[in-house]
Order: sequence, then structure tokens, then C-alpha cells
Amino acid sequence: TGRLRFTTRTEEALDVADVAFICVGTPSRADGSPDLSFVEHVGRAAARHSNESLLLVEKSTVPAATGDRLERIIALEQQSLPSPAKVQVASNPEFLREGSAVEDTLHPDRIVLGVPTEWAADELRAVYRTVIEETGCPVVETDRTTAELIKHASNAFLATRLSFINAVARVCDKVGADVETVAEGMGHDARIGHAFLRAGIGYGGSCFPKDVDAFAHLAAQVDEPFRILEEVRTVNHQQRQHVIDLLRDELWHLEGKRVAILGASFKPDTDDLREAPGMWIAERLLAEGVEVRLSDPVALPAAKEALPDVVVHDDPLAACGGAHAVVLTTEWPQHVRLDPAELVATLSWPVVIDGRNAWDPAAVSAAGARYHGIGRGRR
Ligand code: UGA
Repeated sequence: TGRLRFTTRTEEALDVADVAFICVGTPSRADGSPDLSFVEHVGRAAARHSNESLLLVEKSTVPAATGDRLERIIALEQQSLPSPAKVQVASNPEFLREGSAVEDTLHPDRIVLGVPTEWAADELRAVYRTVIEETGCPVVETDRTTAELIKHASNAFLATRLSFINAVARVCDKVGADVETVAEGMGHDARIGHAFLRAGIGYGGSCFPKDVDAFAHLAAQVDEPFRILEEVRTVNHQQRQHVIDLLRDELWHLEGKRVAILGASFKPDTDDLREAPGMWIAERLLAEGVEVRLSDPVALPAAKEALPDVVVHDDPLAACGGAHAVVLTTEWPQHVRLDPAELVATLSWPVVIDGRNAWDPAAVSAAGARYHGIGRGRR
């Protein structure tokens, strides 16, 4: 309907805006703290180029009290201006997932508004009016710092659930229990719920690893070390390492072996390779002198660019041809629905590591392979 326009000029966008969302990246620095220089850059531009009044909204994931810093930088930037615009800063964290961003935006579980004034609250409620009316989703209205904390705590809690179930999975493997059924049994408790209890080779992506680091960093900075989060990170890392250990156990010397890896992206429905377990495993295997064959329905060009020594195959079965083991790292439907008999028949040695518990262990074993899931007991 002609209501969406694009520009590379920040001033042009700000000039017509009543509300402006900051959606820039906040990448991790070496010490785990997020680099907020892009956020500052937008704050300074908003201070200079807004027209009369602007509500500047943090959408990027930022540490608590970033809104206060933005306010200060805007005041400094406006010192020398003859008639500066009135700029207020709000926080409106996003909870959308890669691969389902539009659906999550139009049907949110909740909308969080961290606002300094009634005016800011009214402006943001107006932006979301249709979504609120159509979905009836809860709106949590609070102060800015609390809103920033809600985002940190939500991602950190989800990552904690994942590391918790992965730690349970490791015990399951040792005692011969099945983590899938443990998770199902836990999930029926309404207080626990089923979501985010799928054990596997750990979380990746640009959000959980970065946000867990950023929250741990913030807690340490205010002298309240958040030790659970350090353990969450450790367990997540161990899940990847576990695959290397399993391969070493099965193949003995890794050098000169051929391993097929199915899945480069950190999860299905995205081509994002950031912190992807499949890429980490591929890199480690290459360093051990393994011939790594990688297959992924969308991320192969970027994967090849990042790791030029991998051999890439569009067809997952071609990647497995003559391999000494296959590792399922991303549960793309194309990988999940592979016929176990066909898959095992292409392998030179029948070793199958199912890093996402996506294949039927009985069917893979019946096809003659040694099957390892995550927390499904040794078979
Ligand atoms: C995550 C959150 O889910 C969003 O709510 C949040 O807005 C977003 O981060 C963000 O901060 O921007 P996303 O990183 O896109 O979204 O991906 P998820 O679907 O949450 O998956 C994260 C990782 O957890 C993936 O590697 C996935 O394979 C893994 N995962 C997820 C499991 O291993 N088991 C599960 O049960 C669920």
C-alpha cells in the first residue's frame, strides 16, 4: 500500500518519524560484553536529526541501563543545538526467533514496554494497537531497565532449560534411560511445560550464546556473579565436544577418516552459521586431519567460504557416500526423513551420531548401524 519505504540515509528516516526503533547489531567483545557503539551512533543521529519530538525505542538486545546511557548521550549531543527535538528513550525488547520472525511479531506471547512517561506508553501502544487487539496478547508495561532485564532473563532462562535437559541427557546415556521420555514426562507438569526440552548437541545462533555472555558479564560487573550461567555455557560447550569424543571412540584415530556432517546452520529454517554446532564440529575435525563432507539445504556457500577445506554436497546421501561416520547436526526435514536403510548403505562404516535425536534409533540399528543419540542410552 506504499507505506513502506527504504533509505540508506538515517537523517531521511528520522526526519519523518514519530517513533524510531533501534535494530542495530550488538556483537560480543572478547570479554563477553556487547559492543554498543552502533547503538550510540543511532542515539547521536536521533539527537541531531529528529523533527520536534521522537520516541527512540531500543529493539536491539542491550544490557540493563543502556536506555539511561542513551538519554545522556542525546543530552550531550543536543547541547550545541539551537532548538533541539524532544527525544524520549523507551525499551521494547524483541522475542522473535530466526526463521519465524514474522509469525512471532504478529502473534507475540507478550509485548514488553519499558517507558519513561505516559506519552511514551501511548505512542508504543498505538504502534502495536492492531496486534494487541487481534491477538489479545498481554502487554507488560514497566520502567526501561526492568524491560531490558526481561529480555536478558528470558533468553538466559531458555538457555538454562536447554543446558539442564542436556545435562540430564548425559546422565541418561550413562544409566541407560531415555531423555526424550524423561522430557515428555516432565513437560506434562503444567509448571514445567514441553517447550525447549529437546536434548541435543547444544544451542547456537547469534542470540543465546551472546546474551548468556552479556548477562553473565553484567552480573559480574555489579558484583553479583551469576554462576548458573557459567555452568550453562560449560554444558553447552560439552555437548559439541561430546560428538568429537564419540567419534574418537568409534573411529579410533581420526586422521584420514571421512565424516559426513548433515547441517551447517545452527537450526533449521535459517542460513545463519553463527555459533552453529555443525560448523564447530567440522572445524575441529578438519584440524584433526579428517575429510569432512558437509551437506545443508541453504547454508553451503557460506559454510564453504568459512571453511574452505570442507567438501560440500547438496545431496545428504552423496555426503555420506563412503564416509566412516555420519553426524546429524541440524534437524532439517530433508535430513530427518532420510531412509535409514539407504543412509546406512551409503556409509563405509556404519556409525551414526544423531546429534538432534531426530532419527528412529530402532530403524537405524535395524539397518545395521551403531547408533548414538543424545541421552537415548547406548545401543
Ligand atoms: C532465540 C529466542 O528463542 C527468541 O525468543 C529471541 O528473541 C531470540 O533468541 C533473540 O534473542 O533474538 P533463535 O536464536 O532464533 O531465538 O533460536 P531458537 O529457536 O530459540 O533456538 C536457539 C537454539 O536452541 C538452536 O540452536 C536450537 O537448535 C536450540 N534448541 C532449541 C535446542 O537445542 N532444543 C530445543 O528444545 C529448542
